[in-house]
Amino acid sequence: MKKTVLLPLLFNINANATPLEVLHWWTAPGEAESQRILEKTLLEKDIEWQNFAIVGEGGDSALRVLQMRALSGNPPDTAQIKGPDIGEWAKVGMLAEVDKIFDTQSWGYILPKVVRDTVTFNDHYMAVPINVHRVNWLWLNKKIFKELKLPVPTTWDSFFVIADKIKAAGYLPLAHGGTAWQDALLFESMALSLLGAEKYRKAFVEHDIAVLNSAEMVTVFKKYKRLHAYVDKSMVGQDWFNASQLIATDKAAMQFMGDWAKGMWNVSGKVAMLDYICVDVPESKGIFSYNIDSFVIFEKYNFQARKNVQTIFVETLLSKQFQSEFNISKGSIPVRNDINMDAFDACAQKSYADFNSAQLVPSFTQNMASTSHLQNIITQIISNYFNAPNVDAEKTVKRLSLAIRALK
Ligand code: BGC
Repeated sequence: MKKTVLLPLLFNINANATPLEVLHWWTAPGEAESQRILEKTLLEKDIEWQNFAIVGEGGDSALRVLQMRALSGNPPDTAQIKGPDIGEWAKVGMLAEVDKIFDTQSWGYILPKVVRDTVTFNDHYMAVPINVHRVNWLWLNKKIFKELKLPVPTTWDSFFVIADKIKAAGYLPLAHGGTAWQDALLFESMALSLLGAEKYRKAFVEHDIAVLNSAEMVTVFKKYKRLHAYVDKSMVGQDWFNASQLIATDKAAMQFMGDWAKGMWNVSGKVAMLDYICVDVPESKGIFSYNIDSFVIFEKYNFQARKNVQTIFVETLLSKQFQSEFNISKGSIPVRNDINMDAFDACAQKSYADFNSAQLVPSFTQNMASTSHLQNIITQIISNYFNAPNVDAEKTVKRLSLAIRALK
């Protein structure tokens, strides 16, 4: 009697005994709560989470640490890798094909094409998508806008007029933590709206030298530099959530940031449309720059023995209940097209509607358009231009196109 009860139990314990080691960079307030939802859901299925969280730089530090671990032959079980980097890791033969772990037949129906394309390499799913973040948002502090009787900025001209008024009233116009990727995110927002989806795509996805080198691009850089007058220069090196905190505490009036910022405001008790408002980046209505988070699975020495753990991991990430709970907390929208959006806030509902109707472009600052290596160089050039006084826009545009040509 004892034996028949114990044996299956022992088998289960052995199967899932080693915890699942997960590398990610969800360490900000809000992100950490969302990560814990994943951890809790896995634990309910008997899978213990081994946290491999790397703080900072919008994931750059995490990717560097991952490279070292992988090169030394000891990658984690799974890691937060997204966009074209998925293909780079797949090429070196380190990743498991997700379709060999899990029956992915239904993915053709429940996942939008852009999501499927992002996680596919050589006709195989090489990563598991978890959410869709929108990047081209402008967030407004409702209290300050109401107090100063300001309209929503829908054009860049009106944006600059409004920003001046906010400054004159003693508030910080633009919440911005000056790290290179945040500087680049500001640039991306402006470039997308001024160039339009087609030319943005040509420049930052196809790396078309004519568009990169154009007079229009010089105009984008010049206008971008004007934003510098509205940020707090003492915030150089601060993380994005320190900047978002200024919106939550009514010190700053506006922030350009992806909707992961909502995750942070959720934990500060701030409510969408009541405390802050989400609007399209000026002049970018009808365009949606997307950022899809996903996890790759490393095919390492103990992979076969632990295949059942990986299967549960994949199944969990895409389960309806988890997709809903996780994305409400994270500020993103589900990757599945069959989730009821009623419980989501108004910004997520707008994002969902826009995702299904707007022109979709991959966010280059969020690793969606090029490998992180090339992206880092682009980011540095943009950030240097933003922060250094008297840097010439024409020369920066030339430097950018030369760097892209050399590295492609
Ligand atoms: C990730 C988000 C994350 C954000 C800030 C982005 O690159 O895709 O999930 O919340 O960085 O850390």
